[in-house]
Amino acid sequence: MAGQIPQSFINDLLGRVDIVGVIGERVPLKKAGKDFQARCPFHDEKTPSFTVSQDKQFYYCFGCSASGTALTFLMEYERLPFVEAVETLAAQAGVEVPRERSRRPQRDNSGIYEIMQRAERYFRGQLKGSKQAVDYLKSRGLTGAVARDFGIGFAPDSWDGLQKALANGDGAGKLLLEAGLVSKNERGNVYDRFRGRILFPIRDIRGRVIGFGGRLLGDGDGPKYLNSPETPVFHKGEELYGLFEARKSVRNLNRLIVVEGYMDVIALAQCGVPNAVATLGTASGENHYRKLFRYVDEVVCCFDGDPAGRRAAWRALENALPTLSEGRRLKFMFLPEGEDPDTLVRKQGAEDFLERLENATPAIEYLFGELVGGFDLDAIDDRAKLASLAMPHVNRVPPGALKELMLQRVRDLTGLRPDRSAPSAGAGNRFPGAAQRRGIRGLAEHLLAMLLKRPEMLRGLSDEQVDAIVNRDGASLFGDVVKYVAEHPDAGSAQILGRWSGDRYHDELTRLLQRPGVLPAEAEAAEFVDGVAQLIAAARRQDRRRLVDEMREEPSREKLTRFLSLKQGSGSTWS
Ligand code: UTP
Ligand code: MN
Repeated sequence: MAGQIPQSFINDLLGRVDIVGVIGERVPLKKAGKDFQARCPFHDEKTPSFTVSQDKQFYYCFGCSASGTALTFLMEYERLPFVEAVETLAAQAGVEVPRERSRRPQRDNSGIYEIMQRAERYFRGQLKGSKQAVDYLKSRGLTGAVARDFGIGFAPDSWDGLQKALANGDGAGKLLLEAGLVSKNERGNVYDRFRGRILFPIRDIRGRVIGFGGRLLGDGDGPKYLNSPETPVFHKGEELYGLFEARKSVRNLNRLIVVEGYMDVIALAQCGVPNAVATLGTASGENHYRKLFRYVDEVVCCFDGDPAGRRAAWRALENALPTLSEGRRLKFMFLPEGEDPDTLVRKQGAEDFLERLENATPAIEYLFGELVGGFDLDAIDDRAKLASLAMPHVNRVPPGALKELMLQRVRDLTGLRPDRSAPSAGAGNRFPGAAQRRGIRGLAEHLLAMLLKRPEMLRGLSDEQVDAIVNRDGASLFGDVVKYVAEHPDAGSAQILGRWSGDRYHDELTRLLQRPGVLPAEAEAAEFVDGVAQLIAAARRQDRRRLVDEMREEPSREKLTRFLSLKQGSGSTWS
């Protein structure tokens, strides 16, 4: 899709065209004093209450409150999406529509990536030269091969070793600071962040080093592990240690194991379980699960077998629920007390570990197990309490088969028919608020998976709905596929995939297509139509909120126009 139309252009354009001309070409206008009048084109009326003000370049209907600028008028009257309306108006004014190259100027982080890469090389070199560090790794059972595969390094106990090694050119000092490789104290002294530590480079999905985790040799002073701070390229809330390495060494990755520590990931890899990842000293959050499920459909989380481990599992579950859409499986595995994956796999071997993985508890079983414990299901009070405890969790799960199974489970356990959630605004709305809870992206992905399987479902949508999805700014993959299917109404799943072959989204589409469909065709079609209405409504709400924020920052006529158009909407039946 071409870049965004610059705001300044839209403002100029509105200043250039005359609203009386634009509307007058389509609706017969009569002069009435300073203004012009007509029978309103937006509602049925006998006497004219539609007024166009040439001064204000604005129209208003006293009957139905329709209002706006020349641009809104075109959008409403001709049912044109925003971009086309701008183009129509521009053509009328005889000017070309310019496009911005990208939506937002991108920050250039290339310097940071480069200095991280240089630092990694330096640390690796230092490891080779330090018998003490190599001995420590050997004492932990690491082979040279696995140390190499993970790029393990060593930061000698020095305040400026790294700075000296990398200080060439003027920019290096600033970059080291931005990359979190050095720190500055109150007196302004700059020193190496990592000193006397084994370093584990943390890579992004493309393999670029974005941070380090550093472990003390043995039990020295200070925290056992020290990580890079948040930087423009390093965000602990979404990164996973070992994901790049796992993807690199397993060709058809279909399952990822989430463990706690760097050493767990490495020990598992060395022992023949190459698909483990770790969060970076933080609990696993929703963004971690979103990321994990982008690459695989099954995630198994390892927890300690003690009460702290069970609490951690509960928290993980709450964070993961909104990401459990169709076909995704989350399982929990509890370790024997006193063991972590590192010690366990070294003692018992990979086969034992894999068997434990096979026997892991589905997270939903775990959820109900924890909820049911402590209730007497023969007592009606307890059954009601259980239902009210369970429903908030059920409601966090995106619509789909899993959610239906959970609802069924609540019914079976309690004999009650719980409400899905608070009463919804729209009638026929089968999953109220779903869009807010799972996010627009999650819902769009769910709909995309359904559409890929049954492209003919697109016929259930109105033209306005299709337009709204296709023309949303920053169109999504779902928008692209909808556009394609709209233009190729007879395309089947294979033809759609074919269109994306060789494209970077091909794998994602293939994966979505393979998700098992569980609902019968009719139920799925109904769910699809419902979901699309939700998606459009949520997208509008989001656009409106953004626009209100932008207008507060910097009001403009163009923003007001857009706001009005979003408020009224061209397809109010589904907003
Ligand atoms: P653990 O204390 O369980 O360490 O911390 P571990 O992985 O078993 O380490 P070894 O076996 O003693 O070397 C698990 C994870 O928690 C984070 C690190 O990410 C670590 O891998 N952590 C732990 C910190 O960030 N800081 C700490 O001081 C300790
Ligand atoms: Mn350990």
